[in-house]
Amino acid sequence: MGAFPNPFAGNVSRKMSNAELMQALRFDISGELEAIFLYDAHYHATDDPAAKAILADIRDEEKVHVGELITLMRYLDPHEAECFLEGEAEVHEMLEKLGLKGQSEGIAPAEGPTVGSLVK
Ligand SMILES: [Fe+2]
Repeated sequence: MGAFPNPFAGNVSRKMSNAELMQALRFDISGELEAIFLYDAHYHATDDPAAKAILADIRDEEKVHVGELITLMRYLDPHEAECFLEGEAEVHEMLEKLGLKGQSEGIAPAEGPTVGSLVK
C-alpha cells in the first residue's frame, strides 16, 4: 500500500517515456485493485448499513479508476489494446462454447452455479 513515511516516494524525477508510463500505469492499477480488495473486505466485515453503503460506493469508484487506467493504456499502446481485446474475445468464445453467449455480451455476471461466497 502507500509509502506514507516517505512523502517523496511517488515522485518521478523526469518525464517518462511511453514505455515507462505504461509500466507506471500497471503499478497504478495494482494500487486500485488492492484498494478494491481492502474496501470489499471491510464491506463484508461489518453489518453497519452506513458503513456498508459508503464502503461499497468507494470500492466501486476504485473499479471505475481501473477502467479509466486500462482505457488510458489502450489509448497509449495500441498493441496492449489488441492484447486486451484478444483476451476479451477468448472469454466470449469460451462462454459461447458453454452456451452462455447471451451473458457474454453484457457485463452482468452469469446466473447459476458459483463457487459460493468467500464470506461466512
Ligand atoms: Fe482509485
